[in-house]
Amino acid sequence: MKAVAIAHPNIALSKYWGKKPGEWNVPAVPSLSITLAGLATTTTVAFDAALTTDTLTINGAAIAALRATELLDHVRSAAGLTTRASIVSTNDFPTASGLASSASGFAALAVAATRAAGLDWPAERVADLARRSSASAARSLFGGFVELDGDIVRPVAPAGAIDLRVLVCVTTEAAKAVSSRIGMNTTAAKSPYYAGWLETAPRIHAELKAALLAGDLPRVGELAEQSAFAMHASAFAAGIVYVSGATLDAYATVRALRADGIGAWATMDAGPHLKCLVHAKDAAAAKARLEASPGVLRIIEATPGEGARVSASTGEDARPGASSTGASGVQGRSPCVDR
Ligand code: PMV
Repeated sequence: MKAVAIAHPNIALSKYWGKKPGEWNVPAVPSLSITLAGLATTTTVAFDAALTTDTLTINGAAIAALRATELLDHVRSAAGLTTRASIVSTNDFPTASGLASSASGFAALAVAATRAAGLDWPAERVADLARRSSASAARSLFGGFVELDGDIVRPVAPAGAIDLRVLVCVTTEAAKAVSSRIGMNTTAAKSPYYAGWLETAPRIHAELKAALLAGDLPRVGELAEQSAFAMHASAFAAGIVYVSGATLDAYATVRALRADGIGAWATMDAGPHLKCLVHAKDAAAAKARLEASPGVLRIIEATPGEGARVSASTGEDARPGASSTGASGVQGRSPCVDR
């Protein structure tokens, strides 16, 4: 009745922003992300008959388990359980500040909760459970480059498809003021450019996916930047501003790197941290320049990594669904969702 899971955040190259009306947390546009090694959430779920309510701590602080309880209720209902659970989660990177801690958090929770409840679900079903809590969490179930299209999540290329580094420029350790859920709902309700975003995002996504499969990093970088700016422009027009002065200074550095002949591209999510995409060979030069950018506190260098898994410390096979197929899991692929 207890399991530990590890999941990594993912950074969308082509972004999702906005939900399909009338459906349960289904993104309005397709997205494609990289699951990142180098940042991790570790979550322990223990069903415990002595508890009268679910409890949750994140990095040692007790917080209301509301959204976690929603997820656990699905698990309890599928497993025929009524027992409450304690959830203990830690992030080794800033929480709730646009570094996709909700993606790794709900991915780790979904893996740990299903395993603790004795459900041996295939990864696609665990991903669907995670998506209901945070759409981007579905992508963290898989390693490498992952697509979320409607409610279907699928790995599209292994972690080694492009020799890429993601330089996460941390500009604050604080949580963001406006959640992505509120930010995207406000954009959909108030932005005069939301219709333009819905029209543009699928085109950028399709072109980016093709460039990725062709191994064309400069085109992937260019399209990732287009996607981020189109998303943020639609949000800006509704008064939703996630970037800070430090983000824009870091972006000026990215452009200066390009002017100097170094392939570097920027992306930003629902928070002020700029993420710089570079080829591995340029990572050290780009990192040195970005470290000197005003307002950049530190840089986390991440590589494409593997999907969410039960922690080896529990002594079980790592990947959701692995025991049902006997497969040990291949980087970037789930043994159960290749369709
Ligand atoms: O999954 P959510 O609801 O936390 O939203 C994530 C939104 C972005 O990070 C801005 C874009 C994306 O596709 O990850």
